[in-house]
Amino acid sequence: MNDTEIIEKITTLKKQRRAVLLAHNYQRDEVQAIADHTGDSLGLSRIAAKVDADVIVFCGVHFMAESASILAPEKTILLPDPNAGCPMADMITAADVRELKQQHPGALVLAYVNTSAEVKAETDICCTSSNALKVVESLPADQEIIFIPDKYLAHWVSRKTGRAFITWQGYCPTHAKILPEDVQAQKDAHPGAVVLAHPECSAAVLDLSDEVLSTTGILNSAKNSSATEFIIATELGVMCSLRADNPGKTFYPASRHALCPNMKKITLEKIMWSLERMQPEVRVPEELAAKARRAVERMVAIG
Ligand code: 13P
Ligand code: SF4
Repeated sequence: MNDTEIIEKITTLKKQRRAVLLAHNYQRDEVQAIADHTGDSLGLSRIAAKVDADVIVFCGVHFMAESASILAPEKTILLPDPNAGCPMADMITAADVRELKQQHPGALVLAYVNTSAEVKAETDICCTSSNALKVVESLPADQEIIFIPDKYLAHWVSRKTGRAFITWQGYCPTHAKILPEDVQAQKDAHPGAVVLAHPECSAAVLDLSDEVLSTTGILNSAKNSSATEFIIATELGVMCSLRADNPGKTFYPASRHALCPNMKKITLEKIMWSLERMQPEVRVPEELAAKARRAVERMVAIG
């Protein structure tokens, strides 16, 4: 089958199954092109919770499909490749969180959404890159906070809010590939360019940036800016939308190595197969989902 035939088949199956296709901003260009909605983690969670559909085909990584299942337990959530995980989410377990809580009995647990459902069940409140500052500001000033698992996100939020956190040494291997010297080289080559970075980048990269934003934040900022040149410090999947949405502007990736292999595991064929077979399904068991739901719902309500 060629791509046109696959897309036709997906369209037919979507109607039959009453399915919607949600795609993260890092997905392959051809996957984003056929999605009903594209967005960042927070935006897609909100859509998953309220969209009128029986089935969600989640084109993203495993924790995103789990979040959708936690927020919309009545829907069937399909993740077209079950091996599309997030290495950062795998860097912390529920047992690790329980140990942290034992070490810091008065502390509240704030988890980046890039965590497993088991970890979220041990968590008081979640955040994404787009609302992390607001989530922290919503917590009492004297509250001790365990902020897991991303050390770079925690460091950036700490600097912006002046709050100290108990942290975990997790990080995103894809964003870690963006080096400060890469950003500096692009800045030297394009002195007028605005640097837009994702908070999963290292502190040294964020220090060289003009704005630190979620993936959708980066897309919106570029669209609304009067600048014409941008250096983009995040995964390369955003480049296609940036260029398509802003024909008069030029975008330079900070690093050509910033590819998330897990995000790229979802293909048109796998989407078609998942709708044909109604598999692979991600369903968080209700007992676990019930424990994780409060933290995820608090996240969705903020920002
Ligand atoms: P956003 O929430 O900004 O889309 O980021 C998700 C993610 O996994 C970034 O690596
Ligand atoms: Fe996880 Fe990084 Fe990939 Fe985002 S880009 S899904 S944090 S590995």
